[in-house]
Amino acid sequence: MELTPERVQEIISDFPVEPGSVIPMLQHVQEVLGYISPLAVEKVSKFLKMTENEIFGVASFYSQFRFIPKGRHSITVCLGTACHVRGGGILLEALERHLQIKTGECTGDKRFDLEAVACLGCCALAPVLKIDEDIYGNMAVIKIRELLEKYE
Ligand code: FES
Repeated sequence: MELTPERVQEIISDFPVEPGSVIPMLQHVQEVLGYISPLAVEKVSKFLKMTENEIFGVASFYSQFRFIPKGRHSITVCLGTACHVRGGGILLEALERHLQIKTGECTGDKRFDLEAVACLGCCALAPVLKIDEDIYGNMAVIKIRELLEKYE
């Protein structure tokens, strides 16, 4: 979907102009656009008569909000305790190097985005990563290249 100022305006204009609208408004923007773009922050800020810093301040407090577009496939690396002690951080660094992006970013070809979370709920399989809805346990750096090839 094309992100035009008019489209963003349309998305937010159903909400009442009051500070309490900021969260539901951002949730709706993310639902429709997939992320909170700088343009959306600007529009929400003008609409609610709040500064962009205030909008960012609220949005960055909640982990549900993302500020970059999603790739076609989302990679989530677990950095919870069980995964951390079994090399989750090393996996994440290897993915950053392989994809040439930082955590929280999307590759230039929009194929993958990369995120880290505190626990994926399958600690016995540590270290774990998830691609879209697929869980991969007992992961190792050496398996990354072949795994990513499955996702076009
Ligand atoms: S700590 Fe990684 S799945 Fe729970």
